[in-house]
Amino acid sequence: MNNSMIIQFDNVTKQYDTDRPVLDDVSFELERGKFYTLLGPSGCGKTTILRLIAGFTEATSGDIYFNGKRINDLPANKRRMNTVFQDYALFPHLNVFENVAFGLRIKKMRETDIKAKVKEALQFVNLAGYENREITEMSGGQRQRVAIARAIVNEPEVILLDEPLSALDLKLRTEMQYELRELQRRLGITFIFVTHDQEEALAMSDEIFVINEGKIQQSGTPTDIYDEPINRFVADFIGESNIVHGTMIEDYLVKFTGKQFECVDQGFNPNEPVEIVIRPEDLEITSREKGKLQVQVDSQLFRGVHYELSCYDKDGNEWLVHSTKKAAVGDQIGLYFEPEAIHVMRLGETEEEFDRRLEAYKDGDEE
Ligand SMILES: Nc1ncnc2c1ncn2[C@@H]1O[C@H](COP(=O)(O)OP(=O)(O)O)[C@@H](O)[C@H]1O
Ligand SMILES: [Mg+2]
Repeated sequence: MNNSMIIQFDNVTKQYDTDRPVLDDVSFELERGKFYTLLGPSGCGKTTILRLIAGFTEATSGDIYFNGKRINDLPANKRRMNTVFQDYALFPHLNVFENVAFGLRIKKMRETDIKAKVKEALQFVNLAGYENREITEMSGGQRQRVAIARAIVNEPEVILLDEPLSALDLKLRTEMQYELRELQRRLGITFIFVTHDQEEALAMSDEIFVINEGKIQQSGTPTDIYDEPINRFVADFIGESNIVHGTMIEDYLVKFTGKQFECVDQGFNPNEPVEIVIRPEDLEITSREKGKLQVQVDSQLFRGVHYELSCYDKDGNEWLVHSTKKAAVGDQIGLYFEPEAIHVMRLGETEEEFDRRLEAYKDGDEE
């Protein structure tokens, strides 16, 4: 383990009294000072991961490390982390100053130090001068900032944020995304941010963990995950995709919609059944003759920067196209794409399986 590592999960499982675990053998490593996002649908286990990190719940099995030390048995108040909850969990009967000062008072810090620290924290979140306001007089966005000030005033090494923006309207939410990202950069503290919103995750994160049914499906930078989704779940969850069944004939040659196409993927078994992803923006409209796929335009919408076309091939597969060119409904057109635009995914593969397969391929082993 290198010393830039701050949090590590080793084969962590969390199971309640139900037959299926909510987290199933989860392993990952987080580096200091980065902005991480846990992304996945409701119920996939995001909050459970945060609660395990914060020490609000115990793992059924597996090890959790903080700065290289196992912390499974360390009480929450001994961990140098703070959580910002979805509903902010502010004290409505205390004013802004006292809300932010709360943790420092528990630590019995001197009054002059408390004043200085609260002032600094409020400056950080652009709330200087709001010390004496009542919480009930603050807007949603301002309450959000108070909650963040209350977290940073304790100078934690990690801030955990559980869907902190989901209660805000779209405009404010976009502003706060930008502010949070900036704040993280200025503070240099590790942020672990939870959301079910893929656009939010793509916009804010250094690294994203895509989670489904208690398992990490894929982790990587926003571009990694968008450009190279590992399975149908990730491809579907992150952005709009065209996904069809296919067969990997051999390295660099794949078959779908009854035709063979050159691609850049390798390491599959001969004739292995696979799923194919092509992003709508990687499809170009051309003539039927020049196209690699022949389709009929079913509908067309103008989306401001591009047209969004829905087309069908002869097998009934739908192909979404984002293009600055337009076509007319009912037109018979061709779709062109580069070999790099084809992403080949093994059926239901998770990141661990993918890594194993890649290693095996590099070693020249048979699987
Ligand atoms: N205390 C609990 N007892 C039993 N099941 C729970 C408990 N807490 C959470 N769960 C279940 O664990 C799963 C994951 O929950 P959670 O981590 O809150 O998901 P998310 O934050 O991704 O929406 C859900 O199916 C939820 O019902
Ligand atoms: Mg949750």
